[in-house]
Amino acid sequence: MLYVGIDSRHSRGMLPESFRTERLFLRPIAMADAGQIFAAYARNPEVTQFLIWRPQMTRRDIEAYIRSCLETPPHRARTYVLQGRKDSVIRGGLDLRQPDKHRLEFGYVLARAWWGKGLMTEALTEIVRWALSQPSIYRIGAVCDVENIGSARVMEKAGLVREGLLRRYLIHPGMGKEPRDCFSYARVR
Ligand SMILES: CC(C)(COP(=O)(O)OP(=O)(O)OC[C@H]1O[C@@H](n2cnc3c(N)ncnc32)[C@H](O)[C@@H]1OP(=O)(O)O)[C@@H](O)C(=O)NCCC(=O)NCCS
Repeated sequence: MLYVGIDSRHSRGMLPESFRTERLFLRPIAMADAGQIFAAYARNPEVTQFLIWRPQMTRRDIEAYIRSCLETPPHRARTYVLQGRKDSVIRGGLDLRQPDKHRLEFGYVLARAWWGKGLMTEALTEIVRWALSQPSIYRIGAVCDVENIGSARVMEKAGLVREGLLRRYLIHPGMGKEPRDCFSYARVR
């Protein structure tokens, strides 16, 4: 994979403003993205099945979600949209959180039309490469539903290792009301 650079402001304590990969540009989410996100993936139950989102988000839900992303200080968390470098069309989203100075957590989603093309592996590989090249960061990890084969595979392809089973860990409303078992994945240095 070809990496063509990032715009990193982490040395000033912020998560990066943007990331670039061969096919994608990751930039901070904006309120103006609500329409595209709503149309592209937020109300597709196949996409939201393993997310903490409600299975069918409304346009107002998306606006409230974006507002909460924008209110979070960028040294704690940042939500990016993934857009095509050539067409600027939004393909999905990725959020990066820094609960402690030494570790990052992330989550991601891709519109159904863009699944299976290696896009999330491409994005996550770049995020992980950046994260573990920061002197202060030793760990990047996430959790996924035990049935979310695609997400587990993306993390493995980005070099994360399955390190445990977190029983009854998260509620994924698309899978029912009860908390679900999740796998914990991480890559460390
Ligand atoms: C999970 C998700 C991000 C995968 O993104 P993607 O760009 O389609 O994944 P990639 O194309 O990079 O695929 C990486 C690997 O996973 C496999 N994979 C992807 N989706 C899969 C699926 N649904 N079932 C089985 N394998 C799958 C691919 O075959 C590939 O493996 P391979 O190279 O060995 O063939 C995407 O399916 C998605 O947005 N799902 C809904 C939201 C979600 O579940 N987010 C994660 C919450 S933890």
